[in-house]
Amino acid sequence: MFDLPKNSLHLRAFKAEADLPKLLDLEADPEVAKLSSIHFLVPQNQRWNEEYLEKRVSSIENNFEFFCVIETVPATASAEEPEFVGVVGLRTDGRDRGMRHTSLGIGLAKKFWGKGYGSEIVEFVVNYAFRQLNMHRITLEVYEGNYGGLAVYKKCGFIVEVTHRKKIWYNGGWGSTILMGILVEDWLAKNLNRAGPGQAAREWGLQAFFNLFASHPPAHLTMFALPDLELRLRPFRHSDLDNLYKQEIDVDVAPLMTKRFITPRSEKFKDELRDEVEKEAEMFCIIETIPPESDALPEFVGATALWKRGEPGMRHTSFSIVLEKKFWNKKVWEHITKFMVDYAFCHLNMHRISLEVFEGNDRAIAVYQKCGFMLEGNQRKAHWSDGRWKDIIQMGILVDDWLAAQKAGSEAVKEELRQ
Ligand SMILES: CC(C)(COP(=O)(O)OP(=O)(O)OC[C@H]1O[C@@H](n2cnc3c(N)ncnc32)[C@H](O)[C@@H]1OP(=O)(O)O)[C@@H](O)C(=O)NCCC(=O)NCCS
Repeated sequence: MFDLPKNSLHLRAFKAEADLPKLLDLEADPEVAKLSSIHFLVPQNQRWNEEYLEKRVSSIENNFEFFCVIETVPATASAEEPEFVGVVGLRTDGRDRGMRHTSLGIGLAKKFWGKGYGSEIVEFVVNYAFRQLNMHRITLEVYEGNYGGLAVYKKCGFIVEVTHRKKIWYNGGWGSTILMGILVEDWLAKNLNRAGPGQAAREWGLQAFFNLFASHPPAHLTMFALPDLELRLRPFRHSDLDNLYKQEIDVDVAPLMTKRFITPRSEKFKDELRDEVEKEAEMFCIIETIPPESDALPEFVGATALWKRGEPGMRHTSFSIVLEKKFWNKKVWEHITKFMVDYAFCHLNMHRISLEVFEGNDRAIAVYQKCGFMLEGNQRKAHWSDGRWKDIIQMGILVDDWLAAQKAGSEAVKEELRQ
């Protein structure tokens, strides 16, 4: 998959059946384990039961942004097989996609140490994490006596951030571990000359991000109140499924919001809705009224969401909003759309928000345009509804558009104050 020419190495995907025994052998070497493991050094066979092996493979498959086996590349004419050198991976840290944080792990078999392999591999993986996976921060933890590791990481731009004193017990005494980290800014500063002056920094729009938060303090996290509208947004509960289900089968509301056919649906359909909300949304909010008296019940107004779209590093989400009929035409739509757009860029660190709207829903298109979405194109005759084909209109807003609008807004306020 990736060739590292300096030392004739090849990085490829992990194949469980062939590679797991080699990985376990590597980890069972006490010299490797001493430097890379937080576990006690006990004969590893104790742990190699079926359940452990399954967990290990599942962890590699599910908890890593990137996990590769490193092999030698035999000379072209030779009949040699590639040799297993070790593994390298980037573990997914934190469930929040917008944080863009990962931790690096590497282990090479002892016979390959001290030949410059570690340096070439770590440099490649760091570049890959920032350039291809759009990471913001990479960390790793290294044992204080791992001089080879420390030298490699420093050379590749990692900085010592924390010393965890006497964290691990080894060979009759406590040892400390060192947390090291590298930020995309550090990496850009180191690589600017290679990328051309200022080019990479502009690509990432870093300055824009530094300025982003000043005017948007975080809202309350269990309930967002929009007092001007006498509404609030709160997390989804299973008891909301009845209301969501009703919208999906309402003959006035459903044709505007769903790509599904409008048909009577069984109760089981609620499971599908619940799965969608719980698994596919970055953020899903129920919209309800703020009751005038504290003991009165709130009224269901609708739902709004930011859905996961593609790879986390793309920082792309899609927006949806559905309101009960009696709340149409009341500015609710526009205010909530604006709130969700601000939230996506400011607090969830999104780069792009897109949405789809069916041909003929001109009111919705006008509202979205007012909130900064641009028309991007039409999928022609892509949706069958009410006896005919309709276009699906694609709209989108980028963080750059949003930042420009914020800047223009604050300039206009300043101008008003000046007059
Ligand atoms: C850590 C590891 C990945 C480094 O890979 P490597 O291929 O040996 O590293 P390199 O040969 O590229 O570089 C090693 C550097 O350490 C330096 N080094 C080695 N021993 C050292 C020591 N005792 N004191 C100071 N520096 C030392 C070397 O001089 C070299 O630096 P240089 O290139 O500037 O001369 C590898 O040794 C390994 O897999 N170790 C076991 C598992 C492990 O430690 N994993 C990391 C856990 S955080």
